[in-house]
Amino acid sequence: MTKLEKANQYQEENRIDVSEKPVFHFTPPIGWMNDPNGFSIYQDKIHLFYQYHPYSDVWGPMHWGHSVSDDFLKWQELPVALAPDKDFDFAGCFSGSAIETPEGHVLVYTGVQETVEEGGTKGVIQHQCLAIGDGIRYEKVDDNPVISGEQLPEGFSVEDFRDPKIWKEDETYYLVAGNKNEQQNGQVVLFQSENLRTWTYVSVLADNQGKYGMMWECPDFFSLNDKYVLIVSPQNMQADGKEFYDGNQSIAMIGNYDRRNCRLLEEQVLSLDYGTDFYAPQTMETQDGRRIMIAWMQSWEMNIKPAKQKWNGMMTIPRELEIRNGKLYQNPVRELEKYRMEPVIYRGKELSGACTIPGVSGRVLDLSIELQGGDYETFTIQFAKNEKYCSKVCYDRSAGIIEFDRTDSGISRDALCRREIKIKNPDKILKLRMILDKFSMELFINDGVQALTSIFYTPPEAEEIVFICDGTACVNIEKYMVMLD
Ligand code: FRU
Repeated sequence: MTKLEKANQYQEENRIDVSEKPVFHFTPPIGWMNDPNGFSIYQDKIHLFYQYHPYSDVWGPMHWGHSVSDDFLKWQELPVALAPDKDFDFAGCFSGSAIETPEGHVLVYTGVQETVEEGGTKGVIQHQCLAIGDGIRYEKVDDNPVISGEQLPEGFSVEDFRDPKIWKEDETYYLVAGNKNEQQNGQVVLFQSENLRTWTYVSVLADNQGKYGMMWECPDFFSLNDKYVLIVSPQNMQADGKEFYDGNQSIAMIGNYDRRNCRLLEEQVLSLDYGTDFYAPQTMETQDGRRIMIAWMQSWEMNIKPAKQKWNGMMTIPRELEIRNGKLYQNPVRELEKYRMEPVIYRGKELSGACTIPGVSGRVLDLSIELQGGDYETFTIQFAKNEKYCSKVCYDRSAGIIEFDRTDSGISRDALCRREIKIKNPDKILKLRMILDKFSMELFINDGVQALTSIFYTPPEAEEIVFICDGTACVNIEKYMVMLD
């Protein structure tokens, strides 16, 4: 049996029952999942691949799992697309992307190969590889690897050279990949090709100049409303005010593109998400021209999953990106609206003290709260709550800070439980939209100009929502259950 057949058989025989999982957030059939890969349209369907180790709930030799959807929310599982079964990818089929071509659905991914030096020291090299398929089955091409580390300028890392993101402009294919320079600083390298098999090195599209962490993983580069956006996920970030936090983070660099030197001219750099669980985002363009981003909703540093649970890893809700007045906005895909049921709507409701609101509870919902005014100083939303557990979002009005806190969510490990977000465009009205799906909360602030994403594995029966206000607040509330069937 091939490695691919083995993975497929394992997936078929061990699939987890959907009742144990979130309702509309993507999760693997069984086992471990990290980065989204190959997020693309092929033959009118939305394809999502992902870093996958079906055999256990921890990271292992990387396969590519595969699913399709018509609307970003209902996913159909497909056979595993790639297994690490060739010399050039034996140590793993790492992250990459996909594109529809006349030859078929092309996957470009990082093959990790072990090397043994003369003294017997083992190492790895990373190179870029191609597989072509019909939307279900994929074959690795004979010319692999199609880009080797030797094609990089001298001094660039051949060990850290990964996560190609491909696109086409006119008749030319381009890809960006994460890399490190001689100083061990993160950079994004750009390649181009006419035929997908032979690639030429073009430039360093951007580098971190000693800021923004070290190795840059999972780059993505695209134009958006007259600007260019480079997304990268740096490792080893260092905290800076309330904009960047320590560790693995995902950032956006927004600016213009100097086409002559093939360089990004960045004008602003910001965190894509201020929560504890958001990494390795990847985007795609829909047929109606929307730029959609999905990310791994977990953190490398904190594994808070309950030990008994046999699947590990969720994706964020796919988010529409937009730049308006120089600001990047992200909001849940509009397709979510068709699955919103049983609206509960209050306008101009006065809240004071601790209160529950009829019809406003649950763990799978889309909840919008507009704080119109009042004399309060702090306003707290407790959710996923019962007598034992609770997570919260607290708004400190004069400080202009929102804090997320999962200390009492039932995490039995020493994990980071709080994150603060400084509201960038404070206005008289504060708009919050919370997307809850059993084990996750995605908070979109002021129409999506900032987002905070965090997970918690609180037992599902904890489903109360309590509002606590230290004065009086006048609020508009709109709550929907989200149901896929
Ligand atoms: C990011 C990452 C990628 C790599 C993959 C391996 O989370 O480290 O750089 O390709 O995960 O699974």
